[in-house]
Amino acid sequence: MKKLAANLKKIIHILNDGDFHAGSDLGDKLGITRTAVWKFIHQLTAYGIAIESVQGKGYRLMETLALLNTAHIKKYIKNSAYREQIKLDVLTTIDSTNDYLKNPPALQKAAKRPPFAKGVTNPITFCVAEQQTAGRGRLGRNWHSPFGANIYLSCAWRFNKDISELSGLSLVVGLAVINALTEYGIDKDIKIKWPNDILWQNKKLAGILIDINAESHGNAQAIIGIGLNINMSNYENKNISQPWCSLKEILGAHQDRNKIAGLLIEKLLDYLQQFEKLGLNSFLKEWQKYDALLGKTIHLENGHNIISGIADGISPQGHLLLKHPDGAMKSYSSGDVSIKK
Ligand code: BTN
Repeated sequence: MKKLAANLKKIIHILNDGDFHAGSDLGDKLGITRTAVWKFIHQLTAYGIAIESVQGKGYRLMETLALLNTAHIKKYIKNSAYREQIKLDVLTTIDSTNDYLKNPPALQKAAKRPPFAKGVTNPITFCVAEQQTAGRGRLGRNWHSPFGANIYLSCAWRFNKDISELSGLSLVVGLAVINALTEYGIDKDIKIKWPNDILWQNKKLAGILIDINAESHGNAQAIIGIGLNINMSNYENKNISQPWCSLKEILGAHQDRNKIAGLLIEKLLDYLQQFEKLGLNSFLKEWQKYDALLGKTIHLENGHNIISGIADGISPQGHLLLKHPDGAMKSYSSGDVSIKK
């Protein structure tokens, strides 16, 4: 799988000059046959990358494709202190970016990174990948993660808080994603479906998965994973069970993943620091603004139970508040929500 992604990357690198390249030339450069080149081209097309193929001339990328790149991502992080504080690994292919940050040996084997700025001893670790082979979603689902199409980003953050104080974290991360999208120009029709599905016109644009480990002395480490659909095409929707959309669909053109990744990192750092200092309370107003469920009749699937009621915002802990038909208000800490049509 690693070799496959590395070859895809090499082909894109060569084709990125916008000229035609014969299959045999590409094959020579990569040390593979023309048939293997054809298969790679076919794979790229399946990922939604537009490639022109002309007999006698070869292949040409219709639009240059910016692969993820540490320097390019950092260019879009405006806060220079953040640029110095973070450690950012750009991976070609990985099972799951969350698992990569959870697994220290994999981290040690990571590609050589530039040294950190003087005085930075405990950098915050981020990673992004071109592709995930076992991307994970909430509630044990898969997260579809085709090569070069979207953002799959994770961040390891150590909190000076007990695990019990982190119940609102996933909501705050959702707001950080919304804030990054707003700054990118998506300011209409964007909402959060509790706990943290980012929706555009009721279609899923991004998802968040947080893995938390309790540590000694009442500390906790959170691995925060964000999947954001950027340029994924319809061809890729075969494994996705719910209505979804991408920034390409919203904005009508191919989008720069490096820029969006930079914005996401910046906003995540802003929001995580505020959460650490002031807690979820300081985000309640912002939550109300983007709450997709407020006042709606919903079903909450919680284990084997389906509970219905009218959504009434969140509790100070970030739990979903539901008004039941008998008028009782109850809060729920987990579950899968659907809006009653
Ligand atoms: C959801 O089900 O909505 C959550 C999806 C989270 C996907 C992201 S992609 C980066 C990180 N790595 C994973 O394996 N999952 C998260």
